[in-house]
Amino acid sequence: DKKGQTAIAHTNIAFIKYWGKADPKLNLPTTSSLSLTLDEYYTKTRVEKATEDSLLINELPQDGKRVHQFLNILREEMGDFPPLRVISENRVPLSAGLASSASSFAALTAAVAKFNNWDLSLEELSRLARRGSGSATRSFFPGFAIWEKGTDDADSYAKEFKTPELPIALVVCKISGTVKKVSSSDGMRRAQTSPNYAAWVDESAQQLAEMKKALFSSDLERVGQLAEANALAMHDLNLTATDRRFTYFNQDTMKVLEQVKALRKEGYLAYATMDAGPNVKIITNQEQAPKIKAYLAERFRKIQFDIATPGPGISYE
Ligand code: DP6
Repeated sequence: DKKGQTAIAHTNIAFIKYWGKADPKLNLPTTSSLSLTLDEYYTKTRVEKATEDSLLINELPQDGKRVHQFLNILREEMGDFPPLRVISENRVPLSAGLASSASSFAALTAAVAKFNNWDLSLEELSRLARRGSGSATRSFFPGFAIWEKGTDDADSYAKEFKTPELPIALVVCKISGTVKKVSSSDGMRRAQTSPNYAAWVDESAQQLAEMKKALFSSDLERVGQLAEANALAMHDLNLTATDRRFTYFNQDTMKVLEQVKALRKEGYLAYATMDAGPNVKIITNQEQAPKIKAYLAERFRKIQFDIATPGPGISYE
């Protein structure tokens, strides 16, 4: 009879994005997506037997409606378990607007499963975590993962995508500042009203197929091109939404994107990807990452830059 269980999940960045739901209740996506798990950012979550469900993130008590709902989904799916105190340590810089829901829901799913001695594969954990947050499906695996959209609740989950060892790195530009917050779920709902949405879904499938080939052949230039094209098209859906069009970009986002182009003109390997916030992650290799970081740090005194590299799958303490 255990008192508690801890699990650690690293965050992931999508190179081919999840941006739209075929079923919002089950978080079934309209497209398959592919991501890289990062070493530098993670969530460590402990669950302990308690008298009622509660949530603490970085020592602060939270209302945690999403977490409460998710624990109840797990109870429905897997059978009842006692109330849990959830204690989470989030090492994802929130100021950077990096998504923490991926690592948070992956760590929580793994901790609860192990605490209850559920005998589940990583794919089965991924499937359950999807109900908390779609991007969490991909945070169980080291390196690259593909979330196959599937057709229903049973077959929509992520798997590891094994590639040759790649010297890939990301330069994470931690742009903060004033942008109106639009949650991923709301952003997706609105993006799906874009007249370009159906074309994006089709294009995304082609880009995913090409991305797999590029990763297999260790062609980082092509990986970057495809990821940037996919991300820009995703953000175009937000701008062209019929229902309250919007953008996650701010002026710094645009300026960094210009510099990414300038870097390419100077012969660097540098491609940008952006998620539900203003910051930019630059896809490059490990040799060039410190040079790109220095180049940008000189031009943007107020932006902080990190270098991120491929990270591990789920682990337990
Ligand atoms: C832009 O996983 O946060 O980061 O399923 O509603 O929780 P919910 O959405 P979420 O969406 C992530 C969107 C993205 C792209 C991606 O990670 O694939």
